[in-house]
Amino acid sequence: MRAITFLCLLGATVAQYDWDGGQGTTKPGNNGNVCLTDSASCGCCLMQKQMYRMEAFFNLSLNVLEQDLERATATLNNIRDSRSAFSVSLGSLDEHICVGVNREKAVIVYKHVFINLGGGYNTTTGVFTVPRSGVYSFALTVYSDAGSPGNSLDACASVTVNGVVMAGPSDRNLQDQEDSATVVLALRLQAGDRVAVELPPGCYLCDNKAHYNTFTGFLLYATN
Ligand SMILES: *[C@@H]1O[C@H](CO)[C@@H](O)[C@H](O)[C@H]1NC(C)=O
Ligand SMILES: *[C@@H]1O[C@H](CO)[C@@H](O)[C@H](O)[C@H]1NC(C)=O
Repeated sequence: MRAITFLCLLGATVAQYDWDGGQGTTKPGNNGNVCLTDSASCGCCLMQKQMYRMEAFFNLSLNVLEQDLERATATLNNIRDSRSAFSVSLGSLDEHICVGVNREKAVIVYKHVFINLGGGYNTTTGVFTVPRSGVYSFALTVYSDAGSPGNSLDACASVTVNGVVMAGPSDRNLQDQEDSATVVLALRLQAGDRVAVELPPGCYLCDNKAHYNTFTGFLLYATN
């Protein structure tokens, strides 16, 4: 028994020493002799070689997996860092607010914040500055109350990118006392673009704690 163990250890040493890194061949001299003198040690040394080969294979697979994991983690961190979503409304919790009618178009500053993930929406200026290039979704709902039936109703506003109107829901008639309109957009934008809602001349919006007037935007996916 002791002899077999010794030969096995000898075989293992020889096998490691003779490993050529690819084919797994050994020099016929030593190893051949061991195999000739003791078949048990031969099996042991073959096993040793096989184990070494498996270890090398696992090492290689592990390296590839580690690299993949590193890339996946970096991508995930990138997605986390670029999270951007805001949703704001005109009405505050305790007061009735109306904006307009103005002579000149003016940016509407939505003061009530439901969410401002990433801090892209500035509640002082009313401008959402695009944090990174990508496709963004925006939704604008306008609402107005004429005060009494028969009064003119001008629930209208425009989503603008860098001052250019992208869409402008509008509802003006003399029958209803209240009305609202909504627009939903998907836009491809560049980092630094400025998105805001403008109140054109003649438009008039009212809101209260019911949050009839909302402006929402979020990143669907980044493009770089
Ligand atoms: C496998 O990796 C371990 C740890 O890095 C190392 O000690 C061992 O020698 C490697 N084995 C092979 C066959 O490359
Ligand atoms: C919002 O805009 C104002 C005016 O440009 C600026 O002073 C302020 O720092 C901005 N706020 C944030 C949170 O970026």
